[in-house]
Amino acid sequence: MRKNILLTLLVFPFLLAAEEITSPDGNMLLKFHVDNGVLKYELLYKNRQVVLPSSLGLELINWPSLMEGFQMERVQKSSFDETWQPVWGENKNIRNHYNEMAVTVSQPALKRQILIRFRVYDEGIGFRYELPRHDNLDNVIIKEEHTEFAMTADHTAYWIPGDYDTDEYEYTISRLSEIRSLEDKARTENASQSAIPAPSTQTSLLMKTDDGLYINIHEAALIDYSAMHLTLDDRRMVLKSILTPDSKGRKGFIRCPYTTPWRTVMVVDDARKMLASNLILNLNEPCKLEDTSWIHPVKYMGVWWEMMTGAATWNYADYQAIRLGETDYTKLKPTGRHAANNDNVRRYIDFAARHGFDQLLVEGWNQGWEDLWQKYHNFSFTQSYPDFDVKALQAYANEKGIKLMMHHETSSSIINYERQLQEAYKFAHDNGYDVIKSGYVGNIFPYGGHHYDQWMNNHYLYCVTEAAKYRLMINAHEAVRPTGLCRTYPNLIGNESARGTEFQAMSGCEPKHVCILPFTRLQGGPMDYTPGILEADISKVNPNNPAHMKATICNQLALYVTMYSPLQMAADVPESYERYADAFQFIKDVAVDWDKSIYLEAEPAAYITVARQAKGSDDWFIGCVAGEQPHHSDITLSFLDKNRRYTATIYSDGKDANCLTNNASYDIRTTTVTSKTRLKLKAVAGGGYAIRITPKN
Ligand code: NOJ
Ligand code: CA
Repeated sequence: MRKNILLTLLVFPFLLAAEEITSPDGNMLLKFHVDNGVLKYELLYKNRQVVLPSSLGLELINWPSLMEGFQMERVQKSSFDETWQPVWGENKNIRNHYNEMAVTVSQPALKRQILIRFRVYDEGIGFRYELPRHDNLDNVIIKEEHTEFAMTADHTAYWIPGDYDTDEYEYTISRLSEIRSLEDKARTENASQSAIPAPSTQTSLLMKTDDGLYINIHEAALIDYSAMHLTLDDRRMVLKSILTPDSKGRKGFIRCPYTTPWRTVMVVDDARKMLASNLILNLNEPCKLEDTSWIHPVKYMGVWWEMMTGAATWNYADYQAIRLGETDYTKLKPTGRHAANNDNVRRYIDFAARHGFDQLLVEGWNQGWEDLWQKYHNFSFTQSYPDFDVKALQAYANEKGIKLMMHHETSSSIINYERQLQEAYKFAHDNGYDVIKSGYVGNIFPYGGHHYDQWMNNHYLYCVTEAAKYRLMINAHEAVRPTGLCRTYPNLIGNESARGTEFQAMSGCEPKHVCILPFTRLQGGPMDYTPGILEADISKVNPNNPAHMKATICNQLALYVTMYSPLQMAADVPESYERYADAFQFIKDVAVDWDKSIYLEAEPAAYITVARQAKGSDDWFIGCVAGEQPHHSDITLSFLDKNRRYTATIYSDGKDANCLTNNASYDIRTTTVTSKTRLKLKAVAGGGYAIRITPKN
């Protein structure tokens, strides 16, 4: 289905006072006008003001700014309606349906024109700046982008503090006006941090109005530009873009013609519609890879949790100065706790293969961990430690029907990584790997840059496009939060880019976290959240680690459905899965790719209940997670085929389950269900339930 109608209105500037356009369903109304030479837009949803008149503009270092002296030249309106099929995703078909308004504006005094393109969807808008090349606008250095989002009141916000280097924070829920006083407390420690002065937040920023509208501000298609954060004028409740600077404070080098990433504002009156939205994906370009046959979803285990909990080490020997290519590792004294050793990896391969996983991630396989902060020449991405035999282990894994997954921790030494990139990807490909988990822990090296600046964003995308040449899929941790680029480059199958399960082995994740992430971080693309920790008492893995997970076992199971990702890890150690073998069965059974997703219940921070139909199958899976309070679910399975009967296996919190003191209390029961079945289930605080539904005939 494809429809594209174009209507050009060539109007004389003096006739163009204000222009407007609605969404296909007529509920969203976008208005644009020039106010004393300043570009302004506003947004209404179902006749309610959502964004008050807000100005647009770019401040430049080397040319007069694109901030004032504008007049409207012409307006071009069009409609678009197309249904496309993602390589992997929450749904087999995605409809991209919008009305567009492209406004050409000029600065007569400077003899320049630019274009602002608005796309209006039923659930939100996207707009971007398009800069043609002019004699006085070619190579442009950006001082700041001044895009405003003027809110109508002091909304409730679900936010993480503004930072140019990390987003691994807990969410704080507060009024916008409280961000200033709460920001210090919200800024917990991380290996690399650069605070944006308060009050500031990162995107995607979720808000709720007192009269029940849900608003989300983010961006789409972040390419060759620095990531946008938001500062807040908390007297007027105006959010304003603040771009990530480079080492000298510059915010972007662009060569015209150039189009900025899309700025997005989503508005819905039912939280489920936000979870079901494809706005960010739709604003990205279609797939640019010609052959995608080698891209596939992956369910994996890892030689990982042992290290995260501190029971084992990534490094082969103790921390010390090493010289790659010169240090003879066989002469170093091993820590005795190096997990990526042949015997242990074989043990994991046996377990993962026996339980039907596709891959096994092994971290700590490569030389350099002893000296990871000496950034100029630290990691090798082709030389393994003496106790890890790449070829033999990959062959062993292949014999058992699985693959090893490659790991590249860069310690953010971009110089060391890019120097080896081609060799590293070739090595991975030649040795039978097809997924690379990369990581960007610590400060960017060369020092001074930031994780989310233009140069780094170009690096992350360069890795993805180069990896495609070697038929490698990428899952980057600590990289910039996604903006839907996985539509264009579907070998970007995952990112961490938020506080993940690893924190359960440290300071923890609050129960509300997984009830917020699908509204925020996941809007841009899948997260490698690494769920599936069944043993909440971390001291069972490492007696010296007193950490304790704040989630029930059923909550962990439900995450495979509620946290959509084509890349899903079973993150715990084999011993935990043996201990809770009956619950582990759900992780083994659950699909990782879907034909259909239906959001049944949703309220940010409180609960999310999702049903998904497995790809090419009649099996359905349901997941429900609850936040800080228990959730009483009441759902009807009306999405099932009316003419069939199904077997449902329900994994639910036990009556006495508690996300802190009794995580392992759960019930598993099997029952017959049909499309008429109504299920009432209770999830405790930090709990949940997971259901597998298979047809009987
Ligand atoms: C942080 C990543 O998020 C984690 O998954 C990884 O194990 C460590 N860095 C080490 O690379
Ligand atoms: Ca991380």
